[in-house]
Amino acid sequence: MKICIVGAGFVGLATGVMFGKLGHEVVCADIDQTRVAAVNSGKSPFFEPPLEKELSRLVKRSRLSATTDVVRAASDGETIFLCVQTPSLPSGRIDIRPLKAASNTVGRAIRRCKDYKVVVVKSTVVPSTTDAVVLPILERSSGKKAGKGFGLAMNPEFLQEGSALRDSMQPSRIVIGALDKRSGDVLAKLYRSLRAEKVRTNMRTAEMIKYASNAFLATKISYANEIANMCVRFGIDSESVLAAVGMDPRIGRLFLRPGLGFGGSCLPKDVKALKNKARSEGYSSRLLSTILAINEAQPSEAVSMLENAIGALGGKRIAVLGLAFKGGVDDIRETRAVPLIETLRSKGAEVVAYDPLAAKSFAMAIPDLEFASSAAKCLKGVDGAIVQADWEEFRRLGKKEFSSMRTPVIVDGRRFLDPDKVRKAGARYLGIGYGIAR
Ligand code: UDX
Repeated sequence: MKICIVGAGFVGLATGVMFGKLGHEVVCADIDQTRVAAVNSGKSPFFEPPLEKELSRLVKRSRLSATTDVVRAASDGETIFLCVQTPSLPSGRIDIRPLKAASNTVGRAIRRCKDYKVVVVKSTVVPSTTDAVVLPILERSSGKKAGKGFGLAMNPEFLQEGSALRDSMQPSRIVIGALDKRSGDVLAKLYRSLRAEKVRTNMRTAEMIKYASNAFLATKISYANEIANMCVRFGIDSESVLAAVGMDPRIGRLFLRPGLGFGGSCLPKDVKALKNKARSEGYSSRLLSTILAINEAQPSEAVSMLENAIGALGGKRIAVLGLAFKGGVDDIRETRAVPLIETLRSKGAEVVAYDPLAAKSFAMAIPDLEFASSAAKCLKGVDGAIVQADWEEFRRLGKKEFSSMRTPVIVDGRRFLDPDKVRKAGARYLGIGYGIAR
């Protein structure tokens, strides 16, 4: 089948590559010329090595291409996926202007076509957006009736950065929210060869499944952080507690890692958007507010630990290791590194930072920040360090690096280093959720 993907961002490209691998012919349409050029030369515009490898293969075999001509790409596509971004507005609501613009363009493309096309919203949108916003725009600009002249569906994605291709090829479930049976059948057929369970439902339910899933993941993280903060005060290592808690199949082990809180392009944005949508319908979600409040406070936990260990931070030089929102990615959206560094600086600390991939983009977020070119250099002469992202290379830091610190104190903001190893290498170990004082 010919597939058009509107929006060659993270979700769009992962979806495009997945359909390309399943044997479909994919055209990605994006208004960003640089992005289109990158895709056409087989390069991913973001750091996702396995995805890039497949992308480059598909481009070489002419199974996937990109264009800035959205109308043309949508006219040629039998199924059109809307994968444009829906970023957070300062109010917490999502910005659906790009989605509206894309829907309008796709509608114009449908107007001049005779074949039956199915438009699929893959962008994360709050419940009722597909039927109350996208549908009327498509009808207006195409001059056709949804369900007759074209099909419509909502098909959320559940990809994690860093494992986008694997998550696309082996999804935990495929949610198909459709306007009618015909639209849903087209999508079910497209996904036929993937072995995941297919959940057939209506569009609003599909939209809500995405938010309910991400809100639950955020809940688990904030819960883990609450338990971890208590464990520190009780003299317990939260890792032992949460590992055993997670053995209960009703709870599950995943997403119970305490740390500096959740960042990234989805969890913070989706929790805020759901809370906001609920409020606009007259429901105030105390749970979501609390999840966000816990998340906001987490960086201060690490800063307090450091203060307790080395005293007031005024005039002290502090290293921040890891600037991306998690290890293994170059994305700094909603990274906890920003509030962490701001808190350190507000207390008079001089901050030096390092990240293997994200330093360049981070320099735009905090332009006057001092960067080191390696973790070892970052630690040299500092009065303490906070590990903000769980990059594997930080596990390899040892005696040589710690002995170059003025005060060898490591605050593990992701509770992923081995405390004994750090101690044996001559540094004092403190960590989120680690209440064992030695
Ligand atoms: C997330 C969802 O997992 C994914 O299903 C959705 O489609 C998009 O949003 P992603 O943004 O890639 O994926 O990040 P994820 O791996 O979920 O991590 C989000 C944040 O939570 C990171 O800052 C991470 O460090 C933090 N986290 C995650 C924890 O603090 N503890 C955990 O146990 C898991």
